[in-house]
Amino acid sequence: MRLAVLASGTGTILDAMAHSKLPISLVVVDRPCKAEKIAANHGLALELIERSSFGNDFNRVSYTQQVTERLLAAEIELVAMAGFGTILGQSIHDGFTGRILNTHPSLLPAFPGWHAVQDALNHGVKVTGCTVHIATLEVDAGPILAQQAVTIEPEDTVDTLHERIKMVERDLYIRTIQKVIDRGYVL
Ligand code: GRF
Repeated sequence: MRLAVLASGTGTILDAMAHSKLPISLVVVDRPCKAEKIAANHGLALELIERSSFGNDFNRVSYTQQVTERLLAAEIELVAMAGFGTILGQSIHDGFTGRILNTHPSLLPAFPGWHAVQDALNHGVKVTGCTVHIATLEVDAGPILAQQAVTIEPEDTVDTLHERIKMVERDLYIRTIQKVIDRGYVL
């Protein structure tokens, strides 16, 4: 199964995926970021499809179309988002229905959105975790494939908690993607 990974950030999940046996055919980033270097270190094909804007004038429809076309041209069959910072529009879901996976640093449906770790701390919950799910047009809302809990310690900051979640996430995401590849379908 030809797998593409979409990333924007530090790329530690991408790094763990590349160290595992996952067959990554293409890495797509939406901005210059550390994930590019990680892709290069592993000799992975990399495409920077740069966002023209982070403001109100961002054309999400056209950007999504560009990403979708590139993935289709590379004959990608499964898409894994690993800290991808752009919400994609309808066309990617039309092109890859039910074949886009995401990992999120909370136990969904609690704390969707970009500040999930901060939100969990602010709320004072004692347990959070990570969720691997199928991405749908609605952000952080698709069918859940796997979850794992992480206990919040009294001295936790966003950084320490996110780091512990990511340690769990890397393993859970890779195992879940591998299962999908082994059986040849998502659900
Ligand atoms: C992960 O916690 C992921 O769930 C979230 O962004 C983080 C990505 O981390 N969406 P990294 O860039 O792979 O280090």
